[in-house]
Amino acid sequence: MEKYETHTHDVIVIGAGGAGLRAAIEASAEGASVGLVCKSLLGKAHTVMAEGGVAAALANVDTKDDWKVHFHDTMHGGKMLNNWRMAELHAQEAPDRVKELEHWGALFDRTKDGKIMQRAFGGHTWKRLAHVGDRTGLEMIRTLQDKGIHSGMDVYMECTITHLIKDGERISGAFGYWRESGRFVLFKTKAVIIATGGIGKAYKVTSNSWEYTGDGQALAYEAGADLIDMEFVQFHPTGMVWPPSVRGILVTEAVRGEGGLLTNRNGERFMEKYDPERMELSTRDVVARSIYTEVMEGRGSPHGGAYLDISHRGAEYVKKKLPSMYHQFMEFAEIDITKEPMEVFPTTHYMMGGVRVDADTAGSTVPGLFAAGEAAGGMHGANRLGGNSLSDLLVFGRRAGLGAAQYANELRDNTLKIDDVELEKAAHEMTRPFENAEGENPYTVHQALQDAMGAYIGVFRTKEKISDGIEEIQVLKDRASQLRIEGSRMFNPGWHLCKDLKSMLIVSEAIARCALQREESRGAHSRVDFPKYDNEKWGNVNSVISKDNGAMKLGTSPLPQMPEELRKIVEGGHK
Ligand code: FUM
Repeated sequence: MEKYETHTHDVIVIGAGGAGLRAAIEASAEGASVGLVCKSLLGKAHTVMAEGGVAAALANVDTKDDWKVHFHDTMHGGKMLNNWRMAELHAQEAPDRVKELEHWGALFDRTKDGKIMQRAFGGHTWKRLAHVGDRTGLEMIRTLQDKGIHSGMDVYMECTITHLIKDGERISGAFGYWRESGRFVLFKTKAVIIATGGIGKAYKVTSNSWEYTGDGQALAYEAGADLIDMEFVQFHPTGMVWPPSVRGILVTEAVRGEGGLLTNRNGERFMEKYDPERMELSTRDVVARSIYTEVMEGRGSPHGGAYLDISHRGAEYVKKKLPSMYHQFMEFAEIDITKEPMEVFPTTHYMMGGVRVDADTAGSTVPGLFAAGEAAGGMHGANRLGGNSLSDLLVFGRRAGLGAAQYANELRDNTLKIDDVELEKAAHEMTRPFENAEGENPYTVHQALQDAMGAYIGVFRTKEKISDGIEEIQVLKDRASQLRIEGSRMFNPGWHLCKDLKSMLIVSEAIARCALQREESRGAHSRVDFPKYDNEKWGNVNSVISKDNGAMKLGTSPLPQMPEELRKIVEGGHK
């Protein structure tokens, strides 16, 4: 095997978005030697696509808010499939995490009396989203980056981790390559935190950028960890539809939070039909299905969307509260949103499912492997409320950093081994596409996968469609085993895609198999052939995916029992 560079750390964090940065800060504070590895640049993350705010019961604007109401809303938003302990910790700890961010330099919008400003969002009883105009995720990343680089961690940018290495059952390393040179690199470590975000690039229309190919979920699966609830893919109700080059780019829910109205081509405020009480501020699963239905039934806008109008709030207000949206539409679509409506349609935005973790420590089912943020499952159940991703990544990023550092500190015995044969296999898997004299183009296979996921496992699903999707994924897996790449390993994006494609095929198969298994509709999973909740059969179980003898194993496991005092909060009287 060719020579490769080696680095040694107590904890390796994979992913440098909000969850990864927050985890790395905490692990460093615990005295662990931390390496933060990211395939893109530090802080270039989907975190910035949570634009409208971070959900925390600060009670600055609506003084009746508290953690119990936030917990209640999150459980109902997730259609009771959430890991209750995660939802409890999240609601209790989010306010402190936001205030901590402020101490570290984040500049939030202010109320008249100088408190952090909060706005309304779908499914939240009170105005709960602390925000910075419509650039909240960006401000959070800026703050975490600033704090992070002064916390003593080593940052390895443009480095893709392709394999996790184990000594027996325990994690002992992470193997990957530098994207620029293509050369291999090994990180010896006691603990790995997966914070790689979502899977959006398995779909064509998505708010996610090129990094989001399900790497962390696939690495964890290959290492033997359980994935849960993979059928629950969030289609954010409002992505741009026109022009075609920007289709899928996020239109923040803050537009509706600030009073934006949804109408169809006949000028009807159609949310009256679907959720007359909450209207535009219904939960994302409901709004996405409503827009989709209006368009499919022939009441869509000229480019196949719904109209979203905020112009009645006046130019000054819109430019102050939604500056990015103003510029986004002006620059990409030549639309002045202070005067005209936007056209919007659902876009793949977020993965509720992910690595199964312990709520308190963020530890997965593999010793030494932790996960946080979007890559972890359980927190959001069947549907995430807007703004809960930013609070999730702060709360569980911190907990993962703590959990991993404590695990590494306790593992005094630093004799974890790296198996050379395993490394050679990993390296050979990576170089194989250069050896094939003939074979498939990874871009063609990727495009076919995106088409299949959109057509068969999108907003509305049926047994027939999902089965066709699974068949197509099998065909694509065969094609992907015969990829061919020309040129060298230097600056070769086609080669990078080979590994990303493998990850996307794993997560796509997991999504499809879980979607076929769950014969009911719940949250973001809508089965036309099973349009109702089936609480008896499906209300108390997570879908579980694991690797068994090289094949994907599908099953279920019961939800943990919720304590009585929390059940009372969920069942009412929360205000
Ligand atoms: O619409 C948004 O600003 C997105 C927020 C989120 O996904 O939490």
